[in-house]
Amino acid sequence: MSAFAYKAGALACEDVPLARIAEAVGTPVYVYSSNALEAQYRAFTEAFAGQPARVCFAVKANSNQAVIRTFAALGAGADVLSEGELRRALAAGVPAEKVVFSGVGKSQGEMAFALSAGVGQINVESLPELRQLSEVATRLGKTAHIAVRVNPDVDAKTHAKITTGKKENKFGIDYDVAPAVYAEAAKLSGIKALGIAVHIGSQLLDLAPFRDAFVLIADLATRLRAAGHDIRRLDLGGGLGIPYRDETPPPPAAYAAVVKEAVGHLGCELTFEPGRLLVGNAGVLVSRVLYVKDGSDRRFVIVDAAMNDLMRPALYEAWHDIRPLKEPAKGASLAPVDVVGPVCETTDIFAKDRVLPPLAADDLVAFGSAGAYGAVMASDYNSRPLVPEVLVKGGDYAVIRPRQSYEDMLGRDYLAPWQGK
Ligand code: LLP
Repeated sequence: MSAFAYKAGALACEDVPLARIAEAVGTPVYVYSSNALEAQYRAFTEAFAGQPARVCFAVKANSNQAVIRTFAALGAGADVLSEGELRRALAAGVPAEKVVFSGVGKSQGEMAFALSAGVGQINVESLPELRQLSEVATRLGKTAHIAVRVNPDVDAKTHAKITTGKKENKFGIDYDVAPAVYAEAAKLSGIKALGIAVHIGSQLLDLAPFRDAFVLIADLATRLRAAGHDIRRLDLGGGLGIPYRDETPPPPAAYAAVVKEAVGHLGCELTFEPGRLLVGNAGVLVSRVLYVKDGSDRRFVIVDAAMNDLMRPALYEAWHDIRPLKEPAKGASLAPVDVVGPVCETTDIFAKDRVLPPLAADDLVAFGSAGAYGAVMASDYNSRPLVPEVLVKGGDYAVIRPRQSYEDMLGRDYLAPWQGK
């Protein structure tokens, strides 16, 4: 059951009416359900019962430390993309050895920080990066445990902007070149190659591309082992999709079955990096209607959230459910409206011709499926303060990031010395 449901006519997160949070914290505000986070994590891990699987939450999907801590408390590791994400994961209580450091462009400083922290795995995405890592590790007297991220040239059949496993994408090392990279890794000081990593894209709704990629990875692992490489780990990335509207993504159990069939015979430790699946439908963005404006051929519902707060519709034409916090009366008339934000950009549109019950100024609405790639992708564009985040547990809620203050926003700029005070 969804963590967000109408109770006594009011949309609630677990046992807390969202309107109560909106009144206390103000709008816009992101609200997450602890129960939903935990339930998604359990559903995913339980699907892998009996397989040697580790789940490293992809912190990029939602990097609030309270969210990371929720998963860490259940035993999760973290998949991080930058020193900042690594610092967040460590601060939230993820043990360094359960961290995978991914990403196509790690700087020397980031490599040194990760090695000093003792991260469990660094995923290498190019030969120059491998050589650089060897240099940094040797200088520090450390050994980098690596997996080479391979690009299997498989079409994930998802939105073009979130596809990563095709040859033309910047990610990973070409499949055919990978054996030579392992051969070089074996000769480099400070490097121990233990595994293969792959991630072909995000919001996948079909298991076939996963199967194709995993079969290729299994074949590569077999060949690398025959060449004398100690391949013990497979990092199979994230990417399993969620329902935003009426999609029916494969359940974790079906995904786990595909994994078992493709790579089970190798006896490798498995790592997964789910992001969206764990947090996407555990969060909403609550916003208040500012004005309803009737244009000559359409009605605009202008809300106080904007593209800077939730970028996905502007960036990927993403569809997010919109529900009034006050349950619409049965048989309420429905009409198409454009739901837009206050930012001065034509792309600041959450929904076009969305069929909704009547909305008036001051009404509250919730944008659904906003737990993943929502708050993390927000900016203060148009000098709009970063939106607060709230975590609900049962009948309790807590602010896990306050709204950015104007003092903080303005205090980040300095005048040049010649400009006076
Ligand atoms: N591992 C790697 C190496 C990744 O690049 C990603 C996502 C993940 C794991 C997690 O993928 P997930 O399980 O969340 O699909 N901002 C876009 C999504 C970008 C995904 C980037 N990489 C969106 O809002 O749809």
